[in-house]
Amino acid sequence: MNASHAAAHPRDPEHRPPSQRKSDPSEATDAPAIERRGDIWHLRSYRAVRQVLRDADATRQAGFNAELSRRSSLRQPVLFQDGAEHREQRTAIARFFTPKTVDERYRTLMTELADALVDDLRAAGAADLDDVSLRLAVEVAARVVGLTDSRRPGMAGRLEAVLSLERLSAASPVRRGVGMFLAQARMWWFYLLDVRPAIAARRREPREDVISHLLAKDYRGVEILIECITYGAAGMATTREFICMAAWHLLEAPELRERYLAADEPGRHRILHEILRLEPVVAHLYRRASADLEVEHDGVTHRIPAGALIDLDLRAANADPAAVGEEPLRLRPERELAAGVQPAALSFGDGAHRCPGAFIAIQESDVFLQRFLRLPLEVVAPPQLRWNELIESYELRGFRVKVAGG
Ligand code: HEM
Repeated sequence: MNASHAAAHPRDPEHRPPSQRKSDPSEATDAPAIERRGDIWHLRSYRAVRQVLRDADATRQAGFNAELSRRSSLRQPVLFQDGAEHREQRTAIARFFTPKTVDERYRTLMTELADALVDDLRAAGAADLDDVSLRLAVEVAARVVGLTDSRRPGMAGRLEAVLSLERLSAASPVRRGVGMFLAQARMWWFYLLDVRPAIAARRREPREDVISHLLAKDYRGVEILIECITYGAAGMATTREFICMAAWHLLEAPELRERYLAADEPGRHRILHEILRLEPVVAHLYRRASADLEVEHDGVTHRIPAGALIDLDLRAANADPAAVGEEPLRLRPERELAAGVQPAALSFGDGAHRCPGAFIAIQESDVFLQRFLRLPLEVVAPPQLRWNELIESYELRGFRVKVAGG
C-alpha cells in the first residue's frame, strides 16, 4: 500500500469545533491515519500507534538519537535498549516506580518542595513558572535517580544546559564545532559536580535508587552519566513542561480551576490526565521495524517492511475520535474513553518502553498545582511556545506570574 491509498481520519474539517490545544491550535488534523512518505511511515491512528508500541519483537527504539548512540561500544541507557536486555533492566528498576514506593518515599519530598516553592513565590511576589517547575521536576527525579550529593547548588541549571542541545546537523562547520565543544563541556561539568559525587557516595553506601542499581551492575562512570542525562530528558524536562501547560490551561479557565481545586485526588488526576492527553509533551516516538509488520485501518491492511522508520504521531493518535470520543481537541475531563484506552491516551507511550515515571509525574504535578493554584495569581505574561527537536517536545518559557498584592 502506498501513500496514494492512504486512509483519512474520520473528521469533517468544515464542522470541526475550535481546538483548545494550546501547543498548536491551528495544526492540521485531517492527515491520513497511515501514510508512507519515502522510507518513513507515519502512523496517526490510536490503534495503529499502540499496536506498534506494543510490538517490541518487531521494532527497535529509533527516537531521541538512539541509532546514533548505539554506534558506541558503551552500555546504552534504558530508553535505547531493546529485547531481553531492556526487559531485564525494566524489571530491575520497576521497584523505584510503583505507586506504593512513590507514595511512601516521595510524597513527603514532593509536599515539602511544593510548599517551599509556593512560599518562595509568595515572598518574591512574582516568578517565571517555568523556573519553578524546573526546580521541582529536577529535585524529584534526582531523588529517584540518586543525584543527591552535588558538590555545588545549581544542578537544575547545569542539567538544563546539558539538555538545551541545539540540532547541529544544519549548522555551519564552525558553529557545529563550537556547539559540540560546548555540549561536551557542559556534560563534563554536570558529571564532575553532580554525577561523580553521587557515584562515590553510593560506592561507600548503596541506596535504593537507580545509580546504586547501575553500580551493582558494574556500569562505568560515563555510562551512568548517560543514564542520568536520559532521566533528565525523560523525567525532568517532560514534567517541567507539563506542569506549565497544566497551569496555563487551569489559569485561563477559572471554572475548571475551581473544579480542580474542589475535586478529590482521583478527580484532580483525571483533569490532569485529560490536559496531558490533549497536550502530549512528547509529540512523536520513533521505531525501526526489525521485521515486517502489518497495521490495519478502516479495513485496509498496510505492510510495513523490515528496516522502515516508523513515526508514531502521538498528537494525532491522542486526538483520534475512535479512541477518545467526540471533539477530541477539546478539554473535557468527563469524556468517555474507548475500552482499554489509558486516561492520558498515549502521552506516556505504551508497551515495553511505557514511561515508568507516569505516576510520579502526575502525583508531583498535582501536589504542586493544588498549592500553587490556591494563590491569588495574575498572569503577567503567558508563556512563549518553542519546540525542542531532540525530544520532539513543546517548551513553554517566560511564563510570568504574579501573586496579587505581592
Ligand atoms: C509528564 C511527564 C512525563 C511524560 C509526558 C513522559 C513521557 C514518556 C514517554 C512518552 C516515554 C516513552 C518513550 C518511548 O516509548 O520511546 C517515556 C519513557 C521514560 N520515562 Fe517518562 N515521561 C514523564 C515523566 C517521567 C518521570 C517523572 C520519570 C522519572 C522520574 C520518567 C522516566 C522515564 C524513563 C526512564 C523512560 C524510559 C523507559 C524505557 O525506555 O523503558 N518519565 N516517558
